[in-house]
Amino acid sequence: MLDITFAKPALPEKGALALLLGEGESLTGLGAAADTATGGAIARALAAASFKGKKNETVTILAPGAGLSRVVVVGLGKREEADGRATEEAGGTAAAALSAEPAGVLDVGPAAPARAAEAALGAVLRAWRFDKYRTTEKPEDKPKLARLTVAHADATKARAAWTPLKGVADGVFLARELVSEPPNVLTPAEMAERCRALAKLGIEVEVLGPKEMKKLGFGALLGVAQGSANEPRMVVMQWHGAGGAAAKGKRAAKAARPLAFIGKGVTFDTGGISLKPAAGMEDMKWDMAGAGTVVGLMAALAGRKAKVDAVGLVGLVENMPSGTAQRPGDVVKSYSGQTVEVLNTDAEGRLVLADVLWYCQERFDPAFMIDLATLTGAIVISLGHENAGLFSNDDDLAQKLIAAGQATGEGVWRMPLGEAYDKMLKSDIADMKNIGGRPGGAVTAAQFLQRFVNGKPWAHLDIAGTAWSSKDKPCVPKGATAFGVRLLDRLVAEHHEKG
Ligand code: BES
Ligand code: MN
Ligand code: ZN
Repeated sequence: MLDITFAKPALPEKGALALLLGEGESLTGLGAAADTATGGAIARALAAASFKGKKNETVTILAPGAGLSRVVVVGLGKREEADGRATEEAGGTAAAALSAEPAGVLDVGPAAPARAAEAALGAVLRAWRFDKYRTTEKPEDKPKLARLTVAHADATKARAAWTPLKGVADGVFLARELVSEPPNVLTPAEMAERCRALAKLGIEVEVLGPKEMKKLGFGALLGVAQGSANEPRMVVMQWHGAGGAAAKGKRAAKAARPLAFIGKGVTFDTGGISLKPAAGMEDMKWDMAGAGTVVGLMAALAGRKAKVDAVGLVGLVENMPSGTAQRPGDVVKSYSGQTVEVLNTDAEGRLVLADVLWYCQERFDPAFMIDLATLTGAIVISLGHENAGLFSNDDDLAQKLIAAGQATGEGVWRMPLGEAYDKMLKSDIADMKNIGGRPGGAVTAAQFLQRFVNGKPWAHLDIAGTAWSSKDKPCVPKGATAFGVRLLDRLVAEHHEKG
C-alpha cells in the first residue's frame, strides 16, 4: 500500500506537490506558498490551462522552480458540495498524476480533517497495482509513487479518521488480489488457504472439503464441482466484534443474530459440458469475485474492528467439462432437499449458492443474508458496468443498500422479483430447473436463489458487470474492482454497529 503520513502543511524542499482546488477558488495554503516561491508560476499555469476546478480536472506543471519537480492541481467541483466521495476521487486522480514521482505532498485545501483522510483513501485505492507476476518490467516503466504526505492543520484528527479507512483499504486490496490471481494459482483449495490467513485478524475460519459437504448433502454445489480435478471447498468466516456476552457489566446477552454475507466463488467457469465460447473465456477467472468481495469485507470489518457480529460464507468450486462432469439433464438434490434439473451446466453459480444460502440461514439464523455473485451475462445487458443488480425481498434493506451505493460510488439498481418470474423455473421432472430462458435472465437467476433463502431477509447483488473494469477510474485502476467491499462496509458502519 502507498505509505501515508499526515503532517501540518509545509512546502517540501524538493519533490512533488498536489493541490485539490474547488471551482472558482484561488490558491491558498501550500498552493499559495508554492506560487509565491515560484514567482507566480502556478497561477500562471492554471490561467493558461483555463483551469476551472471541475471534478477531476487536472493540470500538471513540471519543474516550476523552488525545487519542485512537479505540481499537480486537481479540481474538486464546488467546494461546498465536495463530499467524501468527491474528495476520494480527487485524491485518486492526484495519485495517478503523481505516479512518476517517488513521493509527494497533498494539500486538500480548506477542509475538515476527515476530508484529508478521504483524499488519502482515494490515493491508496488508485495507486494499488497487481504486479507480482511481472518479472522483466523496467524500473522506469513502473509507477513509482510510494509515499504520500497529506497536509492538514489538524494532522492528529486527520490521522485518527484515516485509521478505519486503512482497514477498509486493506480489505479492498485483498479482494482485488484474489480476483486478479490467475485460475491455475487460485484453485478452490488455494483460496480457502488464503481465507485461513484471516485468523490473524481475529476471524474464526472453518474450511469444509468434499467429504464434509457430501455428508451434509450439498448435492447442488458438488454437482458443479464433480467435473474438476480441483476439489471444492466451503469456507465459513466469523467476526465477533459486537462484544456480546463479554461486554462488561451486562448480563450474558444472548448472541445477537449476525449479519451474513455469501459469495459465489467459481475459481474458473468454463461453462462445463455446456461449454462457453473460447473468445473471452479468460474473464471467467474472476467468476469468484463475489467470494473475493466477501473475504475482503470480512478483512475490512476485522481490520477496522467493526462493532458487529458478521459471518462470511463462500462456496468455492471450479466448473470444468470432463468425463466426470455433470450433464445437461442431470437431477441433483440440494442441501435444502429441493431437487434441481440441471438443463445448462453454465448456470452453475446459482447451484453453488443454493447450498451455501440454505446452510447459512439454517446454522446462523442471520438478521439478513446478502449474497454477491457474478451470476449472469443478462445483468450486464440490463445495467452495463455502472450499477450492480440488486434483488431483495426486504424494502428496508434494499433502500439502505441503495444509499450506501451512492455514498461509496459502488452503485446498485433495484430489479424486480415476482411470482410470474418464479414460474419460469418450473421443471417437468424435478422441483425446478436451473435456467428460466433468455428473457429476464438475471431475474430468473435471482428467483432461483430466493428459493433457498427460506423467507429470511435477503438481498442478492449480481456483480457480473461491475466486478472487473476495463478502464481506469479515479479510485479504481482497471482490472479487479473489489466491488461491494466498500458498499457493504458502509452498510454495516451506518446501520449495524453499536456505539
Ligand atoms: N459466470 C457466468 C456469468 C457471467 C457472464 C459473469 C459474464 C461475468 C461476465 C455465469 O455462470 C453464467 O455462465 N451464466 C449464464 C447463465 C445462463 C446459462 C442461464 C449466462 O449468463 O449466460
Ligand atoms: Mn456459468
Ligand atoms: Zn459462472
